[in-house]
Amino acid sequence: MKYNLLGNSDLKVSRIGFGCWATSKHGWKDVNLNDAIKTLETSFEYGINFYDTAPIYGFGKSEEILGNTFKSIRKDIIIATKFGLRWNEFGKVTHNLSRDSIMYEIDASLKRLKTDYIDLYQLHWPDYKTDIIEVIDTLKDLKSQKIIRHIGVSNLDINTLEKISPFIVSTQNKYNLLEKDVEKDILPFCKEKNIGFIAYSPLAQGLLSGKIDNTYKFSKNDIRRFNPLFKDKELFNKIENIDKPLINSALKFLLEKKEVSSILISMTKLNHLIENIKIAESI
Ligand SMILES: NC(=O)c1ccc[n+]([C@@H]2O[C@H](COP(=O)([O-])OP(=O)(O)OC[C@H]3O[C@@H](n4cnc5c(N)ncnc54)[C@H](OP(=O)(O)O)[C@@H]3O)[C@@H](O)[C@H]2O)c1
Repeated sequence: MKYNLLGNSDLKVSRIGFGCWATSKHGWKDVNLNDAIKTLETSFEYGINFYDTAPIYGFGKSEEILGNTFKSIRKDIIIATKFGLRWNEFGKVTHNLSRDSIMYEIDASLKRLKTDYIDLYQLHWPDYKTDIIEVIDTLKDLKSQKIIRHIGVSNLDINTLEKISPFIVSTQNKYNLLEKDVEKDILPFCKEKNIGFIAYSPLAQGLLSGKIDNTYKFSKNDIRRFNPLFKDKELFNKIENIDKPLINSALKFLLEKKEVSSILISMTKLNHLIENIKIAESI
């Protein structure tokens, strides 16, 4: 496994990061919880040290599984979690970046993750109401108390990113062979400012794995039913033109980019983990 420094921080992250969204099972079809936990555990033996989660993934379940799995080797792994998405007892999700909400969320995350510090604490999505500088002030306080080691963001536009660039070490955005919006401004900006770039959905939620065709049916609660990519009738024609095996092309595209610090892949099956590691090692 190769490792990259995340922006100007001291975090040396594996270039394949483990995305723990599907680990919670919530919103993903075909996930067996025992297999998902085994895959997570084994990933460390293959050199992965960078784990990305969020409170919203499985309404706390993903953080809980991650905390339980690695509590005995906490210092050897890098935990990235997030804040800003809250849910109520009916599962209704709201955005909230207020100071009170962040203070509530960090406590809950620390408990679920069984740790007393977070390596990378990331703003998950903008709430379009709280002043971004106020959010940064809250995070600076958490940093000065050593509760978080570094500040990261996700899904912000370039203008907001420009305002806060001196305070953050990374941004996390969607980036894959089919979705390249970040190339127009965010990726060059990160390169210029030495901000770590973390790519999410590198396999376009499985579309680029080569194992999904246009007859694939998602269950009622599968989050991919809301992904516009899966509704694009032309998509499978576009995929036809990409070199096969598709998954090798998808991972190669990101792994060869110097600006990309780590790519986060959700994996809940051991054979998927092993296949991805093998591809990464060949590049
Ligand atoms: N910041 C944000 O707003 C945001 C948004 C989305 C995601 N993320 C982060 O990024 C991570 C990854 O993104 P994602 O979950 O959207 O999508 P992804 O990693 O592009 O795709 C995940 C899907 O790919 C499948 N897969 C992985 N390796 C495979 C292989 N070798 N062969 C066949 N299928 C394979 C997984 O299947 P199995 O489960 O069956 O192994 C899973 O269904 C998340 O876990 C999360 O940490 C962040």
